[in-house]
Amino acid sequence: MMSSMTTMWSSMISNVIFMAFITISIMKVMSCLDNGLCLTPPMGWLSWERFGCNVKCHIKPDDCISEKLFKDMADRLVSDGYREVGYNRINIDDCWMSRSRTKDKKLLPDPKRFPNGIRHLADYMHSRGLKLGIYQNYGLKTCMGYPGLIGYQKVDAQTFADWQIDMIKIDACFTPVHTLDKGYEDFGDVLNQTGRPMVYSCSWPYYQLHTSTVIPNWNLIADKCNIWRTYHDIHANWKDLLATIDFVGDNQQVLNRNVGPGRWNDPDMLLIGNKGLTVDQSMVQMGIWSVIAAPLFMSNDLRHITQEFKNILLNKEVIAINQDPMGEPGFRVFHNETLDIWVRPLMPSHPQHDSGIGDTSYALAFVNRRQDGQITVGVKLEELGLKTSRSYRMRYVFAKRDLSVMTGADTVRVSIPATGIRLLTAILD
Ligand SMILES: *[C@@H]1O[C@H](CO)[C@@H](O)[C@H](O)[C@H]1NC(C)=O
Ligand SMILES: *[C@@H]1O[C@H](CO)[C@@H](O)[C@H](O)[C@H]1NC(C)=O
Repeated sequence: MMSSMTTMWSSMISNVIFMAFITISIMKVMSCLDNGLCLTPPMGWLSWERFGCNVKCHIKPDDCISEKLFKDMADRLVSDGYREVGYNRINIDDCWMSRSRTKDKKLLPDPKRFPNGIRHLADYMHSRGLKLGIYQNYGLKTCMGYPGLIGYQKVDAQTFADWQIDMIKIDACFTPVHTLDKGYEDFGDVLNQTGRPMVYSCSWPYYQLHTSTVIPNWNLIADKCNIWRTYHDIHANWKDLLATIDFVGDNQQVLNRNVGPGRWNDPDMLLIGNKGLTVDQSMVQMGIWSVIAAPLFMSNDLRHITQEFKNILLNKEVIAINQDPMGEPGFRVFHNETLDIWVRPLMPSHPQHDSGIGDTSYALAFVNRRQDGQITVGVKLEELGLKTSRSYRMRYVFAKRDLSVMTGADTVRVSIPATGIRLLTAILD
């Protein structure tokens, strides 16, 4: 079974790999949003997927959108080792505001739920080595009906800067899609004019791709935003996770073109630790989010999370793949109903050594898409584009186990559980 599979793949896989690396070399000429932020994908915690718009603190005091929730999560980042491995942001999503602006048109946090204001929360984060992010919507109202950004761009940007905010997510509910290019571009300039460096997270292409026929101006988006949403809100189940991964793979030639330090696709939050994803499925998300260089924002309850999920989130080796300083995103090089294979170039890399492409280290991800039964696959490394005159030190990332040293002509064989992943690094020897 294995050897026939290997033959079957070779020509197909080589073609795809070839395309992938052409794209990577073109990428080098791009310009960049010049705020110096997010040279590697941002990491942290964001409220939306897990806590949504729960504003009923009198019923669920621990689970409502409030100062307490964000402080609780910040405390966990610090005490449970998350900050230490890179999760250093706490981001507020929708539903933090009062229903109306102040007399001088400023945004006001809900006074019951945020009794000490947002500046207080920012100070709380900063004194713990964390950063604070906040949410607004380019519209007349936010998605959940709170005061929106349109007409108040300057005052809101200044308010966020005064509060010492570090990251802004701008959504685009209820807004004509043809106005988004100018709206997002202008607000980026307004943010810049405050003089405070703030990560700019844009939902801009999501609304163009999925609610209209407008083709996103990817160059403009990547020049103006640090991260940008590409697909629907994600929820904690395998079907949603796979659909999100498939969207990235199906559109990788377009999506990857503008990615690099300071500019990343955002396929939405990490679901790990929530009901709805198994341990194997959680490793798939963590592995693929790292291979595609996605932001790592957990949306879970860090006060109630079991050790097996924590281990996935705190695995330094998978995080190192995500945070690789070259910032080259991975590509899906094989895809059918059963199996996906992804390959991401990593440091150390020696592009000038050999004339050939591919003299670099890699992460390799093998995903079993089936819900029933383990699969076993074998493929020659060179068929995945791993060609070098040297050899690779192979290692299983989640099992934290060395495999062996391999050359391009060697076959790597992996057994992958149902809806599971085998993630390996192949580091130049
Ligand atoms: C504003 O933009 C300029 C030019 O791109 C850049 O040099 C500067 O760092 C930016 N400032 C902030 C606060 O983002
Ligand atoms: C997917 O590809 C693998 C390797 O070529 C093969 O063994 C498997 O049967 C394929 N699955 C489907 C559903 O075509």
